[in-house]
Amino acid sequence: QARRISVPQLMAYKGQKKIAALTAYMAPFARLLDDALDMILIGDSTAMVGYGLPNTLSITADQLAAHAAAVVRSTSHACIIVDMPFGSYQESPQQAFSNAARVLAASGADGIKMEGGAALADTTRFLVDRGIPVLAHVGLMPQYVNTMGGFKAQGMNDESADLIMQDALAHEKAGAFGVVLEGVAEALGRRITEGLGIPVIGIGASPACDGQILVTEDILGLSGSRIPKFARQYSDVGSVIRSAVEQYAADVRGGTFPAMENCFGVKKM
Ligand code: KIV
Ligand code: NA
Repeated sequence: QARRISVPQLMAYKGQKKIAALTAYMAPFARLLDDALDMILIGDSTAMVGYGLPNTLSITADQLAAHAAAVVRSTSHACIIVDMPFGSYQESPQQAFSNAARVLAASGADGIKMEGGAALADTTRFLVDRGIPVLAHVGLMPQYVNTMGGFKAQGMNDESADLIMQDALAHEKAGAFGVVLEGVAEALGRRITEGLGIPVIGIGASPACDGQILVTEDILGLSGSRIPKFARQYSDVGSVIRSAVEQYAADVRGGTFPAMENCFGVKKM
C-alpha cells in the first residue's frame, strides 16, 4: 500500500496541480474524505462546528491532538495537518515546539498549521529547523477575532494588502511549506500566489490559488447556520440525516423497530 501524500509531495504540486483540501475531526468523515483529497486539516474550527462554541479560541492542543489521532487512524491517502490552537504557540518558539511536538507525537499527523503574520516567522523557522513542517495561516486569522473586532475580509486597501504579502513572504523565507490565505481581496490572493514559490491554499481568497480549503460541514449542509460567502454547499446531508432519524423514531414509536430479524435467539421461519 502506497504511503500517504507527504509534505514535500504537496509542495511539488505548486504550478502542477491544484491542492484539494477540507477539514475533518472525526473518523466517519475522515474515512469518506480521504481518497478524494490531497490534504485534510484538523482545524480549530472544530471548536465551532464540533463543540458549538462561538469562536475558535477555547479549544486545546490536547483536544485537537485527540481529533487528529482519530483522523490519522481512519485515513491512508491524504496529508494530515493539525491546527495549533490559540495560546499554544504564540508565547515563544520553544512553547510552540513543545506543543507541536506533543500534538504530532500523539496523533501521527504530518505537520501543523498556525495563524500569524511576520511576527510569527521566527517561530516557523524554529519549528521547521527542528523537523516540524509548518503551514502558515495569514490574512483573516480567526484567532485574532478580538483584536480584529469580528470576522471581516482583509487586505482591502493597498496598505493592508502589502502587509499581508509581507506576512506570507516572511513565512516562506522562514521555511513554511505552504500558506493558507483566508478572507482577502481576490487580487491579493492572486498576487500572493504568484509571488510565492510555495503552495498558497485559499479560503475566501482567489481561484488563482494553488489549492482551496473549506470547512466540510459548510459544503455538506451540516453547519446549522448560513454558510459563508466564500463556501459552496454541494449537498444537503443534514436533511438526509434528519429524515433518517425521523423514520427511526417513528418505527420505534410504532413498534416496527426492532423486527424479529434484529433480535437474538429467534428461530428463522
Ligand atoms: O480551522 C479551520 O477549519 C481552518 C481553515 C483554513 C478552514 O483553519
Ligand atoms: Na483554523
